[in-house]
Amino acid sequence: MAKAKQPEGEIYYPSQQIIEQARLKDWDALAKFASKNLEEFWAKEASELDWYKPWDKVLDDSNKPFYKWFTGAQVNIVHNALDRHQQTYRKNKLALVWVGEDNSVRTYSYYALNREVSQFANVLRAMGLKKGDRVTIYMPRIPEIVIAMLACAKIGAIHSVVYGGFSVDSLQGRIDDSQSRMVITADGGFMNGKIVELKKTVDEALKRCPSVETVVMVQRTKHQVRMEPGRDYYYHELIKLPIANGKCATEIMDSEDPLYILYTSGTTGKPKAILHTHGGYMVGVYSTLKYVFDLNDTDRWWCAADPGWVTGHSYIVYGPLIMGATSFMYEGAPTYPYPDRWWALIEKYGITVFYTAPTAIRGLMRFGELWPRKHDLSSLRLLGSVGEPINPEAWKWYHRVIGNEKCPIMDTWWQTETGMFMITPTPVVPLKPGSGTRPFFGQEAEIVDEAGKPVPDGEEGYLVLNRPWPAMLRTVYNDPERYVQQYWSKYPGKYTTGDSAKRDKDGYFWIIGRVDDVIKISGYRLGTAEIESALVSHPAVAEAAVIGIPHEVKGSVIYAYCLLRSGYQATPELPDELKQHVATHLGPIGKPEQVTFVDKLPKTRSGKIMRRVLKARALGLSEGDISTLEE
Ligand code: PRX
Repeated sequence: MAKAKQPEGEIYYPSQQIIEQARLKDWDALAKFASKNLEEFWAKEASELDWYKPWDKVLDDSNKPFYKWFTGAQVNIVHNALDRHQQTYRKNKLALVWVGEDNSVRTYSYYALNREVSQFANVLRAMGLKKGDRVTIYMPRIPEIVIAMLACAKIGAIHSVVYGGFSVDSLQGRIDDSQSRMVITADGGFMNGKIVELKKTVDEALKRCPSVETVVMVQRTKHQVRMEPGRDYYYHELIKLPIANGKCATEIMDSEDPLYILYTSGTTGKPKAILHTHGGYMVGVYSTLKYVFDLNDTDRWWCAADPGWVTGHSYIVYGPLIMGATSFMYEGAPTYPYPDRWWALIEKYGITVFYTAPTAIRGLMRFGELWPRKHDLSSLRLLGSVGEPINPEAWKWYHRVIGNEKCPIMDTWWQTETGMFMITPTPVVPLKPGSGTRPFFGQEAEIVDEAGKPVPDGEEGYLVLNRPWPAMLRTVYNDPERYVQQYWSKYPGKYTTGDSAKRDKDGYFWIIGRVDDVIKISGYRLGTAEIESALVSHPAVAEAAVIGIPHEVKGSVIYAYCLLRSGYQATPELPDELKQHVATHLGPIGKPEQVTFVDKLPKTRSGKIMRRVLKARALGLSEGDISTLEE
């Protein structure tokens, strides 16, 4: 980094050892090359992977914003994640080390993982699933969620993973929207010493999901569940069938064929199904993981997210396996039975690279330094953060207490939609606590005002991305208009992120937060519209408005304002009842922290709720410009 201009402010420079170890030593040179030669850069990355048939064109932008990558190529992401390793020493390398909350341990070599994925893929094919069919996966953090995703992708089925923390309505809506033919689930999972009953939720949701023909259930907790004859099957029985042998041909896919959909909350209405494809996504997650977390054969990688979120899709399942890395996965809560569970696991399993979210750091910080200090964390060499801005205080604690001041922190900014890291350092980049530094190779981020004009450095504005990238979402599944409208219509030619940010004079980006009606609660993304519709589905509530209020650990919490239907009284029990109602419908993440009853909601003359005014009132701030308020 010697040639680069020295950045200003509080800087953490990488040590000589980090620089020597890093795969990529000269960040500036590669950034310059990729910026001038976007297609060449990505072609080179893609050429490090296996393709059944090479591409005719790297980037096809003839029908913007419906960009296509590696067109004409044939590939399957699973071929790169599993098949190709069977011909190398990696066949005998550990792909996955898994620990349950109850301390059960399971390990899979690349050989064993490939074998079980093949077995299950054979089952799926025998059950009539084929290329393009949708499968909903609703599972705890156990190896079978990885196996299920890979088995779907292997036969060309489109997986739609729904996070196991979501409840009936969210699950039902997502199954129905995707018209899934199958649901893969488990009886339950262990979390905080208790059983999370997933199968029960599936049974409830399926009362209103006629598209589903079959349910496959993994036995994890072994508690009593109902099995519907002719619909529900046990995973462990299926993979013992003769049809479930360990050899299965991987489906040959076009580069642009769908790999998965993943629902995420947006500004309006129902969550949208973000669509990712085999070819470009594969290259994007591979390349970002390689440069940013720099994994190699001596590493043990732990991405502590859930496979049910994009972080898990890209950096637990696909990225690490494509790289041939050894991943670690833990089922349960970081504080169970004590707040040192994660630190004990890092020590015991020799984790070298650890990736988590600011909310988890802040949560564990509260228990003090003694818990991590009880453990030898010296195996760690790199740390990572994702999901929301990391406040400098949490950054420094993470750096000092967990990383022993020697591990650079890769603060990676990205989204479900981007599929891969977009603003991120690599290990050799000087860091500023709280900044994700600069865009990834080939990308150009910009801060613009309402009219789309770049704002001066240091000023807040809307974060946009100017260049296409291979792991970009291709569309909103079954709703191309929404794709165009949501991401590409505000500033033609630029991708709208929905975030506000600043850039400093060193070109470092500082994310401030969402500017749309999306709330991030403990890093999870929920739309105000979803929470509000859960509230009004309660008989007592006529109208509801929710806002996100800053919270020390969770980042934000939900405050709800409800207008009661006539005939209903604001009893002292009603707030709790409504909180529980939302949790039952959406899952515990959506549970409001506070419910307040009001006679009237602030609205514009056209009837839009002015959440900004509610927020200002809740925080005791000035209500700002309220000239558009109804009265
Ligand atoms: O607001 C940004 C925030 O998370 C949003 C994307 O959420 P989701 O699609 O759930 O994906 C999260 C995991 C990739 C972004 O619009 N965000 C994500 N990472 C960061 C972040 N904010 C600040 N710093 C980050 N590193």
